[in-house]
Amino acid sequence: MKKIGLAGFGFIGSFLYERLKNNKKIQVDAVWDPISEKTAALDRHLVCKDLEDLGSRSLDLIVEVAHADVVRNLWPLMKSGADLMIASMTCLSDPEFRHRMERDAGQTGQQIFLPHGAVLGLDGLRDGRSLLTSVSITTTKHPESLGITDRKIEKPEVVFTGTTLEACRTFPRNVNVHAAVALAGVGFEATQSTVIADPHTKKMHHYIEVRGRGLNWNLEIESFSAGVVTGSYTPESLYQSLVSVLTRDNGFCII
Ligand SMILES: NC(=O)c1ccc[n+]([C@@H]2O[C@H](COP(=O)([O-])OP(=O)(O)OC[C@H]3O[C@@H](n4cnc5c(N)ncnc54)[C@H](O)[C@@H]3O)[C@@H](O)[C@H]2O)c1
Repeated sequence: MKKIGLAGFGFIGSFLYERLKNNKKIQVDAVWDPISEKTAALDRHLVCKDLEDLGSRSLDLIVEVAHADVVRNLWPLMKSGADLMIASMTCLSDPEFRHRMERDAGQTGQQIFLPHGAVLGLDGLRDGRSLLTSVSITTTKHPESLGITDRKIEKPEVVFTGTTLEACRTFPRNVNVHAAVALAGVGFEATQSTVIADPHTKKMHHYIEVRGRGLNWNLEIESFSAGVVTGSYTPESLYQSLVSVLTRDNGFCII
Protein backbone atom coordinates (compact mmCIF):
# COMPACT_ATOMS: atom_id res chain seq x y z
CA MET A 1 0.00 0.00 0.00
CA LYS A 2 1.40 3.41 -0.99
CA LYS A 3 0.90 6.21 1.52
CA ILE A 4 0.32 9.78 0.50
CA GLY A 5 -0.04 13.09 2.30
CA LEU A 6 -2.15 16.02 1.15
CA ALA A 7 -0.81 19.55 1.63
CA GLY A 8 -4.07 21.48 1.27
CA PHE A 9 -7.61 20.27 1.83
CA GLY A 10 -9.65 22.60 -0.34
CA PHE A 11 -11.43 21.79 -3.58
CA ILE A 12 -8.76 19.50 -5.08
CA GLY A 13 -7.44 18.07 -1.80
CA SER A 14 -10.85 16.95 -0.57
CA PHE A 15 -11.66 15.55 -4.03
CA LEU A 16 -8.48 13.43 -3.96
CA TYR A 17 -9.28 12.22 -0.45
CA GLU A 18 -12.78 11.05 -1.48
CA ARG A 19 -11.53 9.58 -4.77
CA LEU A 20 -8.86 7.52 -2.97
CA LYS A 21 -11.17 6.13 -0.27
CA ASN A 22 -11.78 2.90 -2.16
CA ASN A 23 -8.38 2.62 -3.78
CA LYS A 24 -6.72 -0.64 -2.71
CA LYS A 25 -3.18 0.46 -3.56
CA ILE A 26 -3.00 4.07 -2.36
CA GLN A 27 -4.19 5.50 0.93
CA VAL A 28 -4.24 9.04 2.29
CA ASP A 29 -2.22 8.85 5.51
CA ALA A 30 -1.74 12.52 6.35
CA VAL A 31 -3.58 15.77 5.66
CA TRP A 32 -2.57 19.33 6.40
CA ASP A 33 -4.58 22.51 5.99
CA PRO A 34 -4.14 25.72 8.01
CA ILE A 35 -7.93 26.10 8.36
CA SER A 36 -8.76 23.53 11.04
CA GLU A 37 -12.51 23.44 10.14
CA LYS A 38 -11.58 21.92 6.78
CA THR A 39 -10.06 18.82 8.35
CA ALA A 40 -12.39 18.65 11.38
CA ALA A 41 -14.33 15.62 10.11
CA LEU A 42 -11.21 13.52 9.42
CA ASP A 43 -9.73 10.85 11.72
CA ARG A 44 -7.45 12.70 14.13
CA HIS A 45 -4.42 10.52 13.31
CA LEU A 46 -4.55 11.78 9.71
CA VAL A 47 -4.46 15.46 10.57
CA CYS A 48 -1.04 17.12 10.74
CA LYS A 49 -0.65 19.95 13.22
CA ASP A 50 1.66 21.88 10.90
CA LEU A 51 3.80 21.55 7.77
CA GLU A 52 6.71 20.22 9.80
CA ASP A 53 4.51 17.40 11.05
CA LEU A 54 3.48 16.59 7.45
CA GLY A 55 7.08 16.75 6.20
CA SER A 56 8.33 14.36 8.88
CA ARG A 57 5.69 11.64 8.43
CA SER A 58 6.64 8.42 6.71
CA LEU A 59 4.97 8.78 3.28
CA ASP A 60 5.69 7.77 -0.30
CA LEU A 61 4.39 10.99 -1.83
CA ILE A 62 3.11 14.38 -0.69
CA VAL A 63 0.66 16.03 -3.08
CA GLU A 64 0.67 19.81 -2.79
CA VAL A 65 -2.77 21.28 -3.55
CA ALA A 66 -2.68 24.54 -1.60
CA HIS A 67 -0.61 27.51 -2.81
CA ALA A 68 2.81 28.26 -4.32
CA ASP A 69 3.97 29.60 -0.93
CA VAL A 70 3.17 26.24 0.65
CA VAL A 71 5.58 24.48 -1.73
CA ARG A 72 8.32 26.94 -0.74
CA ASN A 73 7.66 26.41 2.97
CA LEU A 74 7.13 22.65 2.82
CA TRP A 75 10.11 21.58 0.71
CA PRO A 76 12.83 22.30 3.34
CA LEU A 77 10.71 20.45 5.92
CA MET A 78 10.37 17.22 3.89
CA LYS A 79 12.78 15.26 6.04
CA SER A 80 11.21 11.82 5.65
CA GLY A 81 12.30 11.52 2.01
CA ALA A 82 8.83 11.46 0.45
CA ASP A 83 8.48 12.44 -3.20
CA LEU A 84 6.50 15.57 -4.04
CA MET A 85 3.80 16.31 -6.61
CA ILE A 86 3.17 20.01 -7.16
CA ALA A 87 -0.12 21.51 -8.35
CA SER A 88 0.88 25.13 -7.63
CA MET A 89 3.76 25.18 -10.05
CA THR A 90 3.92 28.96 -10.36
CA CYS A 91 6.39 28.52 -7.45
CA LEU A 92 8.93 27.21 -9.97
CA SER A 93 9.05 30.60 -11.73
CA ASP A 94 11.47 31.61 -8.95
CA PRO A 95 14.81 30.41 -10.39
CA GLU A 96 16.56 30.34 -7.02
CA PHE A 97 13.90 28.12 -5.47
CA ARG A 98 13.80 25.86 -8.51
CA HIS A 99 17.58 25.36 -8.47
CA ARG A 100 17.47 24.67 -4.76
CA MET A 101 14.81 22.00 -5.28
CA GLU A 102 16.76 20.43 -8.13
CA ARG A 103 19.98 20.44 -6.09
CA ASP A 104 18.32 19.01 -2.96
CA ALA A 105 16.42 16.35 -4.92
CA GLY A 106 19.65 15.39 -6.71
CA GLN A 107 21.23 14.77 -3.31
CA THR A 108 18.35 13.00 -1.56
CA GLY A 109 16.96 11.07 -4.54
CA GLN A 110 13.48 12.53 -3.97
CA GLN A 111 11.40 12.89 -7.09
CA ILE A 112 9.40 16.01 -7.93
CA PHE A 113 6.41 15.37 -10.16
CA LEU A 114 4.74 18.08 -12.24
CA PRO A 115 1.29 16.83 -13.28
CA HIS A 116 -0.21 18.23 -16.46
CA GLY A 117 -3.19 19.42 -14.39
CA ALA A 118 -5.59 21.52 -16.41
CA VAL A 119 -3.54 21.58 -19.62
CA LEU A 120 -3.01 19.03 -22.38
CA GLY A 121 -0.11 18.50 -24.76
CA LEU A 122 2.83 19.10 -22.39
CA ASP A 123 4.46 15.87 -23.55
CA GLY A 124 4.53 17.20 -27.12
CA LEU A 125 5.97 20.52 -26.02
CA ARG A 126 8.65 18.84 -23.95
CA ASP A 127 9.62 16.41 -26.69
CA GLY A 128 9.74 19.17 -29.32
CA ARG A 129 11.60 21.65 -27.10
CA SER A 130 14.69 21.87 -29.32
CA LEU A 131 12.53 22.83 -32.32
CA LEU A 132 10.42 25.54 -30.72
CA THR A 133 10.79 29.20 -31.68
CA SER A 134 7.85 30.77 -29.83
CA VAL A 135 5.17 29.78 -27.32
CA SER A 136 2.36 32.02 -26.17
CA ILE A 137 -0.67 31.35 -24.01
CA THR A 138 -3.85 33.35 -23.52
CA THR A 139 -6.17 32.52 -20.62
CA THR A 140 -9.69 33.87 -20.19
CA LYS A 141 -11.40 33.46 -16.81
CA HIS A 142 -14.04 35.16 -14.71
CA PRO A 143 -12.51 38.03 -12.66
CA GLU A 144 -13.28 36.07 -9.44
CA SER A 145 -11.28 33.10 -10.71
CA LEU A 146 -8.40 35.55 -11.16
CA GLY A 147 -8.79 36.90 -7.64
CA ILE A 148 -9.83 40.34 -8.95
CA THR A 149 -12.27 41.54 -6.31
CA ASP A 150 -11.13 45.13 -5.68
CA ARG A 151 -12.89 46.58 -8.76
CA LYS A 152 -15.83 45.72 -10.99
CA ILE A 153 -15.00 44.52 -14.49
CA GLU A 154 -17.98 45.12 -16.78
CA LYS A 155 -16.68 43.66 -20.07
CA PRO A 156 -13.79 41.40 -21.17
CA GLU A 157 -10.54 43.13 -20.33
CA VAL A 158 -6.87 42.22 -20.87
CA VAL A 159 -5.52 42.37 -17.33
CA PHE A 160 -2.03 41.10 -18.08
CA THR A 161 0.32 40.77 -20.99
CA GLY A 162 4.02 39.98 -20.65
CA THR A 163 6.35 37.10 -19.87
CA THR A 164 5.09 34.03 -18.03
CA LEU A 165 7.67 34.84 -15.34
CA GLU A 166 5.85 38.10 -14.63
CA ALA A 167 2.40 36.45 -14.98
CA CYS A 168 3.32 33.94 -12.24
CA ARG A 169 4.36 36.79 -9.93
CA THR A 170 1.18 38.74 -10.67
CA PHE A 171 -1.29 35.82 -10.45
CA PRO A 172 0.42 33.09 -8.36
CA ARG A 173 -2.85 31.18 -7.82
CA ASN A 174 -4.32 31.56 -11.30
CA VAL A 175 -1.76 30.84 -14.02
CA ASN A 176 -0.50 27.36 -13.16
CA VAL A 177 -1.30 26.35 -16.74
CA HIS A 178 1.11 29.05 -17.96
CA ALA A 179 3.79 27.79 -15.58
CA ALA A 180 3.30 24.22 -16.80
CA VAL A 181 3.57 25.29 -20.45
CA ALA A 182 6.72 27.30 -19.67
CA LEU A 183 8.32 24.40 -17.78
CA ALA A 184 7.60 21.94 -20.60
CA GLY A 185 8.55 24.30 -23.42
CA VAL A 186 10.82 27.32 -23.72
CA GLY A 187 10.96 28.52 -20.10
CA PHE A 188 9.38 31.26 -18.02
CA GLU A 189 11.12 34.22 -19.66
CA ALA A 190 10.60 33.17 -23.28
CA THR A 191 6.92 32.16 -22.95
CA GLN A 192 4.45 35.00 -23.52
CA SER A 193 1.33 35.23 -21.35
CA THR A 194 -1.93 37.09 -21.76
CA VAL A 195 -4.69 37.02 -19.14
CA ILE A 196 -8.22 38.21 -19.91
CA ALA A 197 -10.88 38.79 -17.24
CA ASP A 198 -14.35 38.17 -18.67
CA PRO A 199 -17.27 38.83 -16.29
CA HIS A 200 -19.66 36.90 -18.57
CA THR A 201 -17.80 33.58 -18.69
CA LYS A 202 -18.21 30.46 -16.55
CA LYS A 203 -15.40 28.74 -18.42
CA MET A 204 -11.67 28.60 -18.05
CA HIS A 205 -10.35 29.02 -21.55
CA HIS A 206 -6.71 28.55 -22.60
CA TYR A 207 -5.38 29.17 -26.10
CA ILE A 208 -1.80 28.05 -26.68
CA GLU A 209 0.10 28.95 -29.85
CA VAL A 210 3.32 27.09 -30.53
CA ARG A 211 5.62 27.84 -33.45
CA GLY A 212 8.78 25.98 -34.33
CA ARG A 213 10.90 24.53 -37.08
CA GLY A 214 8.49 22.37 -39.08
CA LEU A 215 5.56 22.76 -36.70
CA ASN A 216 2.66 25.05 -36.07
CA TRP A 217 0.35 24.08 -33.20
CA ASN A 218 -2.75 25.80 -31.85
CA LEU A 219 -4.25 24.22 -28.74
CA GLU A 220 -7.58 25.34 -27.35
CA ILE A 221 -8.64 23.99 -23.95
CA GLU A 222 -11.83 24.80 -22.07
CA SER A 223 -13.15 23.55 -18.77
CA PHE A 224 -15.93 24.78 -16.57
CA SER A 225 -15.20 26.54 -13.28
CA ALA A 226 -15.82 24.24 -10.34
CA GLY A 227 -13.74 25.54 -7.41
CA VAL A 228 -12.85 29.23 -7.18
CA VAL A 229 -9.54 28.88 -9.00
CA THR A 230 -9.98 25.40 -10.46
CA GLY A 231 -11.79 23.91 -13.45
CA SER A 232 -13.80 20.71 -13.33
CA TYR A 233 -11.21 18.59 -15.18
CA THR A 234 -8.20 19.31 -12.95
CA PRO A 235 -9.02 17.22 -9.83
CA GLU A 236 -9.63 14.10 -11.92
CA SER A 237 -6.50 14.79 -13.95
CA LEU A 238 -4.43 15.10 -10.75
CA TYR A 239 -5.95 11.90 -9.38
CA GLN A 240 -4.97 9.97 -12.52
CA SER A 241 -1.47 11.48 -12.48
CA LEU A 242 -0.85 10.38 -8.93
CA VAL A 243 -2.18 6.89 -9.64
CA SER A 244 0.20 6.68 -12.64
CA VAL A 245 3.14 7.79 -10.53
CA LEU A 246 2.46 5.44 -7.62
CA THR A 247 1.22 2.33 -9.40
CA ARG A 248 2.97 1.44 -12.56
CA ASP A 249 0.72 -1.47 -13.38
CA ASN A 250 -2.17 0.27 -15.12
CA GLY A 251 -2.04 -2.29 -17.88
CA PHE A 252 -2.28 0.39 -20.52
CA CYS A 253 0.28 3.13 -20.56
CA ILE A 254 0.39 6.25 -22.68
CA ILE A 255 3.78 7.98 -22.63
N1 LIG B 1 -1.62 22.81 -12.17
C1 LIG B 1 -2.85 23.10 -12.52
O1 LIG B 1 -3.26 22.94 -13.67
C2 LIG B 1 -3.80 23.66 -11.49
C3 LIG B 1 -5.16 23.80 -11.81
C4 LIG B 1 -6.01 24.27 -10.85
C5 LIG B 1 -5.53 24.65 -9.60
N2 LIG B 1 -4.21 24.55 -9.33
C6 LIG B 1 -3.68 24.98 -8.03
O2 LIG B 1 -3.92 23.98 -7.06
C7 LIG B 1 -4.01 24.59 -5.77
C8 LIG B 1 -5.26 24.08 -5.05
O3 LIG B 1 -6.42 24.42 -5.80
P1 LIG B 1 -7.87 24.32 -5.11
O4 LIG B 1 -8.87 24.59 -6.18
O5 LIG B 1 -7.96 23.07 -4.31
O6 LIG B 1 -7.82 25.58 -4.12
P2 LIG B 1 -8.72 25.81 -2.81
O7 LIG B 1 -8.65 27.28 -2.54
O8 LIG B 1 -10.05 25.18 -2.92
O9 LIG B 1 -7.91 25.02 -1.68
C9 LIG B 1 -6.65 25.43 -1.24
C10 LIG B 1 -6.47 24.91 0.18
O10 LIG B 1 -5.14 25.19 0.59
C11 LIG B 1 -5.17 25.82 1.87
N3 LIG B 1 -4.03 26.74 1.95
C12 LIG B 1 -2.92 26.55 2.66
N4 LIG B 1 -2.08 27.56 2.53
C13 LIG B 1 -2.64 28.44 1.71
C14 LIG B 1 -2.24 29.71 1.19
N5 LIG B 1 -1.07 30.26 1.49
N6 LIG B 1 -3.10 30.34 0.35
C15 LIG B 1 -4.27 29.77 0.01
N7 LIG B 1 -4.70 28.57 0.47
C16 LIG B 1 -3.89 27.92 1.32
C17 LIG B 1 -6.51 26.51 2.00
O11 LIG B 1 -6.92 26.61 3.34
C18 LIG B 1 -7.42 25.62 1.19
O12 LIG B 1 -8.08 24.66 1.98
C19 LIG B 1 -4.04 26.11 -6.01
O13 LIG B 1 -2.75 26.68 -5.78
C20 LIG B 1 -4.36 26.22 -7.48
O14 LIG B 1 -3.84 27.40 -8.05
C21 LIG B 1 -3.35 24.05 -10.24
